[in-house]
Amino acid sequence: MLVLGIESSCDETAAALVRDGHEVLSSVIHTQIALHAPHGGVVPEIASRSHIEKIPSVIRRAVEESGCAFGDIDAVAVTYGPGLASSLLVGLSAAKGLATALGKPLIGIDHIEAHIQSAFLAPESPRKEDFLPLLALVVSGGHSAIVRVGTEGRPRVIGQTLDDAAGEAFDKAAQLLGLGYPGGPAIQKAALAAHGELDFEFPKGRISRDNPALGRLRADLCFSFSGLKTSLRTYLQKNPVRDEEHRNRIAAAYQDAIVDALASRCAKALKGGKCKGFAVGGGVSLNAALRARLKEVAEEADVPIFLPEPKYCGDNAAMIAALAGTGAGIRGKEAFLLDATPNLTFA
Ligand code: KG4
Ligand code: ZN
Repeated sequence: MLVLGIESSCDETAAALVRDGHEVLSSVIHTQIALHAPHGGVVPEIASRSHIEKIPSVIRRAVEESGCAFGDIDAVAVTYGPGLASSLLVGLSAAKGLATALGKPLIGIDHIEAHIQSAFLAPESPRKEDFLPLLALVVSGGHSAIVRVGTEGRPRVIGQTLDDAAGEAFDKAAQLLGLGYPGGPAIQKAALAAHGELDFEFPKGRISRDNPALGRLRADLCFSFSGLKTSLRTYLQKNPVRDEEHRNRIAAAYQDAIVDALASRCAKALKGGKCKGFAVGGGVSLNAALRARLKEVAEEADVPIFLPEPKYCGDNAAMIAALAGTGAGIRGKEAFLLDATPNLTFA
């Protein structure tokens, strides 16, 4: 089954062709980073306008680079949420139009579930189905969630951030430190250049059991990053950046706090979850310190870890087409009735 995947939930316009859920024939990503960088974050109006401009050429290139023709496509898969409403609408409309024109099925895909699939995209990578139940950490600019994929393949959120996403925490800190956008790579670079310990430790964002935002989620599997950002702002008010070395050491301590919050919750989840594997996805999974810590966590829990190749960590359409190829997603007439769903959740 040859699936064309389309992704436009945030600031990447992407299309890809994937055969049978794992063989990536092409993956084209147009990133809008340069458009949003001057604003220090994604501006929804700029994002949707750029998606409209780029989506035809991105889809055309994905088909050309795959060596296939439009007529070879068996189904069109598209992200319908979560994400920015006006951005999601562009991809969804393009996919509905294309599926109708080709007379092929449309498959609506959950972006977060697709990030989990991204860890299984490498040609030599094993099948997700062989490691169920699976624990997954999805960490991006918009989301931070610990997900358990059950033996029947259904994902369920078991822990998450109660406020900012991990990527957002990186982006906001980079802005406060004058390190530019996107913040994740900038903080990582600064942290790498740091020498020595900063005599300051950021709060670890533990959640008290009576926090009303928890709902049915366990406090020890959830995290909070808004306090971290506030403590950085307070620290900087009292201790303005003295020099490059000082800035680097702050970045290192801040990165450490995020990595620790994520890794400790995953370790907890793996302890009780009887999971056969541990997958990671999302833009923040590019972070080298996080990858190293999560490998340790997996080793301690004695489960294999699946990390996406760098090109599949951030938003891409290969993960959308691949997930559709495994049989997941909304299909049939229902798919054509799908609306952009900014707050889509499978919690
Ligand atoms: O998955 P993604 O491309 O888009 C969303 O769905 O949000 O993730 C983007 C996020 C940004 O917040 C960016 O700062 C973060 O991923 N990021 C990183 C790194 N590279 C990108 N965070 C930490 N370390 C990195 N190396
Ligand atoms: Zn994403």
